[in-house]
Amino acid sequence: MTSQDLRDLFVQTSVQPDSRKTVSQADSTSRVLPPCIIVVFGASGDLAMRKLFPALFHLFSGDHLPKHFAIVGCSRTAFDDSAFRDQVRKSLPQPGEGDPDRRDAFVHNVCYHQLSYDDSKDYDALSQRLESVSALFATQGNTLFYLAVPPQLYGEISTRLGQSGLAKERDQTHGWSRIVLEKPIGHDLESAIALNDTLHQHFDEHQIFRIDHYLAKETVQNVLMFRFANTIFEPVWNRNYIDYVSITAAETLGVEKRAGYYEQAGVLRDMFQNHMMQLLSLVAMEPPSRFQDEPVRDDKIKVFRSLRPFELQGRFRDLVLGQYVAGQISGQDVPGYRDEEKVAPDSLTPTYALLRAYIDNWRWQGVPFYICSGKRLAKKLSRIIIQFKDVPHSMFRHILGERISSNRLILGIQPDEVINLTFQTKDPGMSSNLRTVTMRFDYNQEGKTTIKDAYEKVLMDCLVGDQMLFWRQDAVKRCWAYLTPILELCESCGDRASHLHFYPAGSWGPEAAATLYPGYLKDHA
Ligand code: BG6
Repeated sequence: MTSQDLRDLFVQTSVQPDSRKTVSQADSTSRVLPPCIIVVFGASGDLAMRKLFPALFHLFSGDHLPKHFAIVGCSRTAFDDSAFRDQVRKSLPQPGEGDPDRRDAFVHNVCYHQLSYDDSKDYDALSQRLESVSALFATQGNTLFYLAVPPQLYGEISTRLGQSGLAKERDQTHGWSRIVLEKPIGHDLESAIALNDTLHQHFDEHQIFRIDHYLAKETVQNVLMFRFANTIFEPVWNRNYIDYVSITAAETLGVEKRAGYYEQAGVLRDMFQNHMMQLLSLVAMEPPSRFQDEPVRDDKIKVFRSLRPFELQGRFRDLVLGQYVAGQISGQDVPGYRDEEKVAPDSLTPTYALLRAYIDNWRWQGVPFYICSGKRLAKKLSRIIIQFKDVPHSMFRHILGERISSNRLILGIQPDEVINLTFQTKDPGMSSNLRTVTMRFDYNQEGKTTIKDAYEKVLMDCLVGDQMLFWRQDAVKRCWAYLTPILELCESCGDRASHLHFYPAGSWGPEAAATLYPGYLKDHA
């Protein structure tokens, strides 16, 4: 048997689904959706046109929106209903060949309400408009407010909604009111607390949906299933067997047109405070008692509470920051960060960070978690590596005379949606050699249709009121509390320029990364 045959055997044997054992999953597509109005603030903006309306349309086309629904777009721009419908229609994908064109049916349920975000009178008018829309479309007073606006407006809009009575609920099934916001939730600990206080003056926590689009990725959700629906991994999922954990979200994209935001945020606020922390919590959490929003979020917060405070004395011992300079991505020349549109020519904003974190609890004591994210890196790659320890004693040492590679589990998030388990086998033939083989499960191999777009998933969950994939305020606060000293160190120390490592676009980041994380280059090859 050749090595390819052996590999193929593993691939084949590893992915045969056992239909008798398929557990039916109570996903939002199978739940009954209540009638409702979706109010989109920032309706003429990029996020709404590029992501939200297409996502809503896709749900509508798949019959996943409630039978009775309406969408009310709100922004400062003057439109009448008909002109706004035309705009929305243009943002929707053309039907595929032979498919019915459902765009007109969709925009039939779309209306527009012009408003100034800071004018109470406009919210009173909105309230009246929603009443008539609710009567017209039989939506029973259920309303979802989606804030697709710059984060500086979150406080203002939520306050005005509260003052005009729109945050009030009759009950949670008829006449509910929910508010959806995206990151960043605050700029640091203090501003996050202030924003949460403002939100809570008018909305209860069960009404607030703080999105993290990483949690809506199938492969991210699969981390929980993989860990807690199997018995064989959990017994070794701890400091006794695991050498280190590596969590990476690498991008080839640069800052694009978002320098206004990114210059203030940098990679730590943009990726670490939210997506990277969520990935960390999924890998490190204890098994929740039930697969439900509160038990799951209760166990996640315990991870954040156990994060070892960043050692400021050691300063950059556990942190590498970088910024890309000009280089090549897929053979094309790309500019350095400082040459991007609207970026300061002497900007010290990090576009790359590698952080070594420790979790001070019984399970993880002493295990380093290498958390890494950056823009303009060599590949688009998000994945989690669980690196197991070496065998305690090698009985083969007198034959092989070398270290045996230890086991490794890779949870691929994107673009490869895979689970790879690497282990040692005998090399076929007369000799007694070992070789490393990989058992691979490809998430897409079963050819099942999945909801791919994160916005569709989160919109569905908002409609059914399932908060499992959303940030709870205590977790937001904890993560800011962990990161704020790091941000202060990065942003206020006198010699911060000397701690920013430059890396060419298209590389794997600063060379210093390999000093902090010895397997860095090998793990990202
Ligand atoms: C966003 C960040 O939250 O996530 C972006 O603001 C980043 O800077 C993006 O590019 C990455 O998301 P994904 O799904 O492409 O990995």
